Amino acid sequence: MFQNLTRRTFIKRTFGSLLTVLGMGAGGYYYANRIEPSLLEIKQLEIIHERIPSSFNGKKIVQFSDTHLGFQYTLDKFTGLVDTINDLQPDIIVFTGDLMDEPNKYLKTNQLAPILKKLHAPLGKYCIYGNHDHGGYGSEIYREIMNTAGFTILLNSAVSVTLEDNSFISLLGIDDRMLGRPDITTAIKNVPNNCFKILLSHAPDMADTASSYPIDWQLSGHSHGGQVKLPFIGALVIPPFAKIYQEGHYIVCGGHELNLYVNRGIGTTRLPFRFMAKPELTVFTLKS
Ligand SMILES: [Fe+2]
Repeated sequence: MFQNLTRRTFIKRTFGSLLTVLGMGAGGYYYANRIEPSLLEIKQLEIIHERIPSSFNGKKIVQFSDTHLGFQYTLDKFTGLVDTINDLQPDIIVFTGDLMDEPNKYLKTNQLAPILKKLHAPLGKYCIYGNHDHGGYGSEIYREIMNTAGFTILLNSAVSVTLEDNSFISLLGIDDRMLGRPDITTAIKNVPNNCFKILLSHAPDMADTASSYPIDWQLSGHSHGGQVKLPFIGALVIPPFAKIYQEGHYIVCGGHELNLYVNRGIGTTRLPFRFMAKPELTVFTLKS
């Protein structure tokens, strides 16, 4: 997030944010820098829809997002996160972008695939690109890591997740809105009309476009839930394409009714703080 702010605006906002956080006193600084970034909220939601086949009843999708490894988030914490996700016994795992903060400067890229490989989901592991996965010539680095770790990258494409009785749901994924070329028309091209469809898009504000397509749910990240929020004021900095939808569940009405969920992510970027925006894992249970 935050990549296309002008330098001047960024410095101004960063300085303002720092002053605000410092203004909370040493306790507030310590909390936002050391405590809250390590707190993990596991949110449980149900996805109920008539087009979900009955054999998918109770199947679990775990979403994680925006780890930003190399900025504040460490490999040790990442290893623990993988254990936490596995303990949730997901059937499907989705990662909605921004794995490393700066892929071309991160020195431990070769340690990521073996950790991600340990994630276990019998119906598959899927991911999309975030802006930081493209930034700094990261596209190839990210692709190599995720492929080695057994993830299917959905880049303006779709897959059917199929059970033994041949019932299926469709997972679609688009490229990042800031630094890639998202194309829902291409992604949905070969997807049967009457099946249940979930779209993965790093940028939540793509929901306004997605709602004109026959898509049922969209899962996003990118916003970090504002990352640093103040009571009555809200988020200090919101990245482009997360201006409308910042965190949690929304119903977006375009040509179709689209359910959007925006996950707050795991790591931090630009400022090593989280305040009123705890890291999050989301567990979606499918109900027919
Ligand atoms: Fe991010």
